[in-house]
Amino acid sequence: MARIIVYTGKGGVGKTSIAAATGLLAAHRGYRTIVLSTDAAHSLADSFDMPLGPEPVRVADNLWGQESEVSHNIEKYWGTIQAYVSSVFQWRGLNEVMAQEMSVLPGMDELASLLWIAEHYDEGEFDVIIVDAAPTGETLRLLSLPEAGKWWIEKIYPIQRRIAQVTSPIVGRVIGMPMPGDAVYHAGEELFARLGHMHDLLANPDLTSIRLVLNLEKMVIKEAQRAFTYFHLYGYPTDLVICNRVVPEDAGPYFEAWRQTQARYWPEVQADFDPVPIRQAPFFEHEVTGDAMLETLGAAVFGDDDPTQFFYKGRPYRIHREDGTYVLALDLPFATRDEVHLHRNGDELVVQVGWWRRNLILPRVLVDLPTKGAGMEDHVLTVRFAAGPQAKAGATKR
Ligand SMILES: Nc1ncnc2c1ncn2[C@@H]1O[C@H](COP(=O)(O)OP(=O)(O)O)[C@@H](O)[C@H]1O
Ligand SMILES: [Mg+2]
Repeated sequence: MARIIVYTGKGGVGKTSIAAATGLLAAHRGYRTIVLSTDAAHSLADSFDMPLGPEPVRVADNLWGQESEVSHNIEKYWGTIQAYVSSVFQWRGLNEVMAQEMSVLPGMDELASLLWIAEHYDEGEFDVIIVDAAPTGETLRLLSLPEAGKWWIEKIYPIQRRIAQVTSPIVGRVIGMPMPGDAVYHAGEELFARLGHMHDLLANPDLTSIRLVLNLEKMVIKEAQRAFTYFHLYGYPTDLVICNRVVPEDAGPYFEAWRQTQARYWPEVQADFDPVPIRQAPFFEHEVTGDAMLETLGAAVFGDDDPTQFFYKGRPYRIHREDGTYVLALDLPFATRDEVHLHRNGDELVVQVGWWRRNLILPRVLVDLPTKGAGMEDHVLTVRFAAGPQAKAGATKR
């Protein structure tokens, strides 16, 4: 079972440098490690100071690097991606869509990245898969993709398929375009099953950690906090925050104002991400490229620790019994009460924070129980469910 570590954060904070440094440390420890860059703005090759490609390239003993490339991935995963495209453009003649054009479809980069993570995981060639991911917004899209896929296949897909079976010959005749046949639907089913598999991998706290990289700057911290909330909302485990480019005490007068500003933000940042631990790395005199600098950075962040360990394990989504009923609790750090909206639809609970929403498919025990109310306390959203038949039976006996 491979360990999966995903680094994300605002552009330029040091994701690639830290991903590469982590990879090098892990490889030194004897883990067969791959660092996979899924950020279209690749700089992993610069970090390792050697050319990389869209397939894994050996960088050192136990270490491989790879820069995912959307057009390469489309060719490689043509069948699977075709199914994705067909689900986006149900009514189009698929063969007319060129790989070039497909690469601009929404979610394409994210999809390809997911397929790579899944492939490395399933093949079992590596002990550690480190993902140098895109900035937070895109990474959130990546992480919401499997969940959206799961929702789509359970809720929308069966209906759409029935409709297509009934109407496709007619629609096809009327609009003069071929409708996807059973084979395409079957491939679509497979794709969404794969996405479901990916979701289970990435949301598994025994396998995956999403790590946030930030700098002590207002905008950067804000973006990291927002991402942190959404990781919790989506149920993705976060085990570490890395605060990069901290101006050292002896940086001299030119950096004094920077140093003071950072010193002001530091305690706030610690409180904000509590209880997830935070590590620091200094602002070095040189850019981080090549083995020696990567080792220096890795040592600053991890010291003698195994960088693949779980630095924190928490459960962002819990269900417990209370007074004969169930309470679902969701940690939503940074979300305030008026930002959270709840909507219940059968076995689904839609939690919306700002413009992000999560369709929680409720666990079986809660499906038949109506929601009684919700409240936000200490950044924990609790949703109460009415007592079920068993709870009621217990109550009447007494
Ligand atoms: N702690 C640091 N001190 C000095 N330079 C750094 C440090 N961390 C990263 N850099 C440099 O900053 C630039 C951006 O880092 P990078 O890892 O590519 O960020 P990201 O992947 O988040 O965009 C690179 O030139 C890198 O060498
Ligand atoms: Mg980068």
